[in-house]
Amino acid sequence: NTNVWMKTQTHKRDYLRNRRSGSFPPGPTAIPIIGNMLSLDRSRTHESLTQLAETYGNVYSLRTGQTWMVVVNSFKVVREALVTHGESVSDRPDLPLQDEIAHGKGVISSNGHLWKQQRRFALSTLRLFGFGKKSLEPFITDEFTHCANIFRSYKGKPLPPHLILNNVVSNIICSLVFGHRFEYGDKNFKNLIKLFDQSLQIEASVWAELYNSFPLLMKHVPGPHQTVKKIWNEVKDFVRNELKEHRKNWDPSDPRDYIDCYLREIQANSGQVDSTFDEENLVICVMDLFVAGSETTSTTLRWAFLYMAKYPEIQEKVQAEIDRVVGQSRPLTMDDRVNLPYTDAVLHEIQRFGNIVPLSLPHVTNKAIQLEGYNIPKGIMIIPNLTSALFDKNEWETPCTFNPGHFLDNEGKFRKRAAFIPFSAGKRLCLGENLARMELFLFFTSFMQHFTFSMPAGVKPDMSFRFGVTLAPKPYEICAIPR
Ligand code: HEM
Repeated sequence: NTNVWMKTQTHKRDYLRNRRSGSFPPGPTAIPIIGNMLSLDRSRTHESLTQLAETYGNVYSLRTGQTWMVVVNSFKVVREALVTHGESVSDRPDLPLQDEIAHGKGVISSNGHLWKQQRRFALSTLRLFGFGKKSLEPFITDEFTHCANIFRSYKGKPLPPHLILNNVVSNIICSLVFGHRFEYGDKNFKNLIKLFDQSLQIEASVWAELYNSFPLLMKHVPGPHQTVKKIWNEVKDFVRNELKEHRKNWDPSDPRDYIDCYLREIQANSGQVDSTFDEENLVICVMDLFVAGSETTSTTLRWAFLYMAKYPEIQEKVQAEIDRVVGQSRPLTMDDRVNLPYTDAVLHEIQRFGNIVPLSLPHVTNKAIQLEGYNIPKGIMIIPNLTSALFDKNEWETPCTFNPGHFLDNEGKFRKRAAFIPFSAGKRLCLGENLARMELFLFFTSFMQHFTFSMPAGVKPDMSFRFGVTLAPKPYEICAIPR
């Protein structure tokens, strides 16, 4: 209606003029050109943003470069933004660096019809391989065996878990996408892992932020952001090579993996004008699954080891429950989960406290919305502050304490919590949530079944974090003592 239209126009004018109108969310004063970029502590942005909510309320605004963003805080308001206004905030903003890589294709940074079609296909394929008759469960237990052999080779001496875990979880995505795993020493696999790592570091750097805020200027400034395209071209070549191999002995009636399913989809949709299934999208989707699915799961497992070393009494209780219910001789399966409520609660608490994607991914309004009495026009970036939900004082009994009791009722049964949203919520909810939960459960319980984790003599667990693409523990060494 005219009223809403008028208000939207006023907002547009105001935010172009670096000013907030009365009904736009308040926030700290933005400096001309750079906005609020310098007022945030980049090493702990999620904490800075959570603190700002104490001054400006659960819905406030900031500006970086020329982009206005609204940060939403607390479980209630994050849910209202992402679920109640789900459709209106389901788009991703245009981020120049992301655009260099994906060109608006794939799942993570695409929008509209293309995103819907690619997301639906990816979800149904993950379901087929995650829980259907081609379940990934045996791949995960097999991968654990490879990893356990490496851990055992250290004979309880300190080992650096980061790269090993990256290999382990990347191999799960390889099994899903390519239909096979790689030996950890394989030259091509090592190179692939290195490329992902390099790219994630650049995407988490200040260069990426500057590039996204001032693309025209930064295009001509040397820096690591200039190498992103080169790195991704190498990854694309790797995926195209796999694709070529797949085509050689492809049987549409018996898909072995994601690529086979996708090839069938390209064939089935050929000639349809609105089809978005093509090789370019396939390559970007595969890269999206690696980007979103590897570092996240690996980081969570790295936190898990640290928490177990820090709280040996909790680790003992987990091991005792697994020993009692499953024993030491057979591998765990997803069916065991319901019988391991304490272990399940510990794993949930690791995810809550680990808070590994603290600000989710950015969204953008595709139409004007009203949130907590404020008007947010179309085209405003929305930052769902998941930290504020996972540590919300109104939702958790002891938000700042590692307490598995958050997920247990009085009888010791597992208790679901609505505010547990490490995978975000709404239309863009993590696409790999079920796969991630399966991996985390099977890997964590298998580690607990076979190893006890402790810090090297004289070393205390360092629980401080490194803020980057994920909120990760600082590099550490740990002893995995065979049980
Ligand atoms: C998106 C968390 C593992 C694939 C996301 C988002 C979060 C998240 C917070 C952003 C949601 C939003 O925009 O509001 C996690 C965590 C994981 C995990 C905590 C593990 C512990 C995985 C895995 C995969 C995956 C294993 C796939 C194999 C994706 C994809 C998206 C996504 C494709 C983009 C969805 C879209 O834009 O529609 N994830 N994730 N994630 N995740 Fe995950």
